[in-house]
Amino acid sequence: MESVCAGNRTGGSNPLASAIFCCIIETMNESVIELKGITKRYGYGDTESFALKDFDLTVKRGEFIMIMGPSGCGKTTLLNVLGLLDKATEGSYFLDGEDVSGFSSTRQARIRAKKIGFIFQNFNLIMDLPVIENVALPLVYTGHPKSARLMQASSALARFRLQEREYYFPSQLSGGQQQRVAIARAIVSDPEIILADEPTGNLDSRSSRIVMEELKAIHEEGNTIIMVTHNPALTTYATRVINMLDGQIDTDVKTVSDQNLPKPVSERKAARRSRRKSGRRR
Ligand SMILES: Nc1ncnc2c1ncn2[C@@H]1O[C@H](COP(=O)(O)OP(=O)(O)O)[C@@H](O)[C@H]1O
Ligand SMILES: [Mg+2]
Repeated sequence: MESVCAGNRTGGSNPLASAIFCCIIETMNESVIELKGITKRYGYGDTESFALKDFDLTVKRGEFIMIMGPSGCGKTTLLNVLGLLDKATEGSYFLDGEDVSGFSSTRQARIRAKKIGFIFQNFNLIMDLPVIENVALPLVYTGHPKSARLMQASSALARFRLQEREYYFPSQLSGGQQQRVAIARAIVSDPEIILADEPTGNLDSRSSRIVMEELKAIHEEGNTIIMVTHNPALTTYATRVINMLDGQIDTDVKTVSDQNLPKPVSERKAARRSRRKSGRRR
């Protein structure tokens, strides 16, 4: 990426056009996440162990990263740190360019609610709440009235063809349907980052494929997805595959270049806003 821009700046026939082109490409693919020297340590002295060790990671907007590696290598810890559910012992975490590692838990929770959606292996639905209320849960932070939150949840469920099950309880749904409810809950507040910890781990192959197709569609809209999986066959959905070992990156392979990642959601929103504005002016 740097070499493309460097080449254009120095060798292009129109330096101004080259500079603008590079500026656009750089904005499109700016880092959404940057981890620097993240360490997560448990215990002290004889009992000391590391779930993550001096871990560096830069994630560009629009990447679909699959994290693989043996049990206990730190995959869930990594997602928990990324999702601001767990604090690292050392290191810095930049989210949208802001160092969030030192923020208070309340401030982290607010950022989490706005920017990050979670999908878990065991769905993590609240069994005594109807589906629609489960999906509306992340919207509590918005401060909108309950009726508005339920309407938003209803349209998220419609996207996953579950509108007829809104008032079912999770136990009345199949595993695949429960995971689609969980995906609806993850995207209901329109976050740009989706973190998924083995989302297909408890599903049969058919439901697994449906869930992966939904995640693919969410990614193609320009969202950034970081997903842990044990299933190598699923890496075909990824733009980058990271193998972890003992709390560190073992291998890191990009299968799609940064220039070819989907256009980030933020840009689409800005374009929509400007289209609406120019429409109003006409
Ligand atoms: N609360 C905890 N206390 C002590 N050790 C922990 C704790 N949580 C995780 N670990 C250890 O951290 C390592 C990484 O765990 P985890 O991130 O769950 O791995 P993975 O998801 O790759 O299976 C493991 O060795 C695990 O035993
Ligand atoms: Mg795990």
